[in-house]
Amino acid sequence: MKINQNYANLQESYLFSDIAKKVSAYQSANPGKKIIKLGIGDVTQPLCESVVAAMVDAARELGGRDTFRGYGPEQGYAFLREAICAYYGERGVVLASDEVFVSDGAKSDIGNILDIFCTDNTVLIPNPVYPVYVDTNIMAGRNILFMDASQSNLFLPLPDEALHADIIYLCSPNNPTGAVYTREQLKQWVDYAIAHDSVILFDAAYEAFIADDKLPRSIYEIEGAKKCAIEFCSFSKTAGFTGTRCGYTVVPSELCFDGVHLNKLWLRRQTTKFNGVAYTVQRGAAAVFTPEGRSQIKESIAIYMNNAKTIADTMTDMGMWFTGGINSPYIWLKCPRGYKSWDYFDYLLGELGIVGTPGAGFGTNGEGFFRMTAFGDAEETAQAMAMLKAAAK
Ligand code: MLT
Repeated sequence: MKINQNYANLQESYLFSDIAKKVSAYQSANPGKKIIKLGIGDVTQPLCESVVAAMVDAARELGGRDTFRGYGPEQGYAFLREAICAYYGERGVVLASDEVFVSDGAKSDIGNILDIFCTDNTVLIPNPVYPVYVDTNIMAGRNILFMDASQSNLFLPLPDEALHADIIYLCSPNNPTGAVYTREQLKQWVDYAIAHDSVILFDAAYEAFIADDKLPRSIYEIEGAKKCAIEFCSFSKTAGFTGTRCGYTVVPSELCFDGVHLNKLWLRRQTTKFNGVAYTVQRGAAAVFTPEGRSQIKESIAIYMNNAKTIADTMTDMGMWFTGGINSPYIWLKCPRGYKSWDYFDYLLGELGIVGTPGAGFGTNGEGFFRMTAFGDAEETAQAMAMLKAAAK
C-alpha cells in the first residue's frame, strides 16, 4: 500500500490552522488578555431572521410523516436552483437551472472540480492566492505556473500570451488582496481562455460585497465566458453560512472540451461522490433571495463594509499602502517599517492582541503584506484600529 506522495510536497499544515495554533498558544501564555480577531474570514453576524424561519419550518416538515423528505434531487432542490438563476437574471445572465449545482460550499467544489480534469494539465494560479487552489493541485501532482500579482499591477495580473495554461484560477473580489477585476480586464482573461482552449475556474464567493455597479459580479457578465468558465459561489460570506454550509457551482452547458460537456462530467462526479445539502439548509439558502431575506442580509453586509471602511480609513490616515476594502471585505496592506508578514503578525498579536493573516501565507508575493478582514465585530474592529493608530504614534 502506497500513499499519495504528492502530499509530501505540501506545507505541513493549512495556513489558518497555523494561525489558530499560534493564537491559542498566545492565549494560554496570556490568560485573560483580550484578542481581536481580524484573521480568518469568518463571519460574526448571525443568520438573518428569514433564513432562520425558513430553516425552522423546513425542520418541522422533516418531522411530519406526510412532509418528510429523504435524499433530495441530485443537483439541489429546484426552488433553490431557480432562485439562483433568477438572481443571475437580474444582471442579464441567463442560466438554466440544470447548469447550477448546489453544494456544501465553494471551498469543497473548488477542490473537487479537479476530479474531472486530467492531472497532466498545467494550471495558472495568481501569487498571492487563497491557498486551496495551490494545495489541491499539489495533492494531485499537477504542474503549477504562478502569475505575479504585485503592487505594480495592483494585485490584478492579466494574461501573458506567451504562457500556455489549461486551467486558470481567478478570484474577484480577490481573496486575499481585495482587488476587483473590471469588465475589460476579465474580458482579456475570457479571450485568452478561448484562444488557448483553457478553462477558467472563477471564484465569486465575495461578489455580494461589490458596491460599484460597473464592476462585474459574475464572469458570465462577460461575453464568451460560458464557453470557458466555471463559477463558484457561496452563501458563507453573503449570508453567514460559514458554519451552516451551502454554496453553488455553475457549469454552463456550452462548456465543452475534448468533445465532452463538463456539465455532464460534473453531474457524474457529484452523483457518485456527493449526496447533497440538507433540505433545511437549502430552504434557508433560498430564503436569502426573498425580498425580506435580501434586505436583511444587506444589513449584515453593510456592517461588514463599514468595518472595511474603518480599516481602510485607518490605513489612509496612517499613510499605509493597501488594496481592497471598498468592493471587498478584505484589506491587503503593506506592512509598515519594512516588517516581514509573520513578524508583523507576531508584533500585532504580541503587542496589541490583534490577529490578522500574514500575506506570506498566501504565497511568496505576499511577503511584506498583511490581510485584515472586515468580518469582525464592529466595535472590536474600531477598537483595533484605534490601538493601531495609537501604537504608530
Ligand atoms: C479566508 O479567511 O481566507 C476564508 O475564510 C477562507 C475560506 O472561505 O475558506
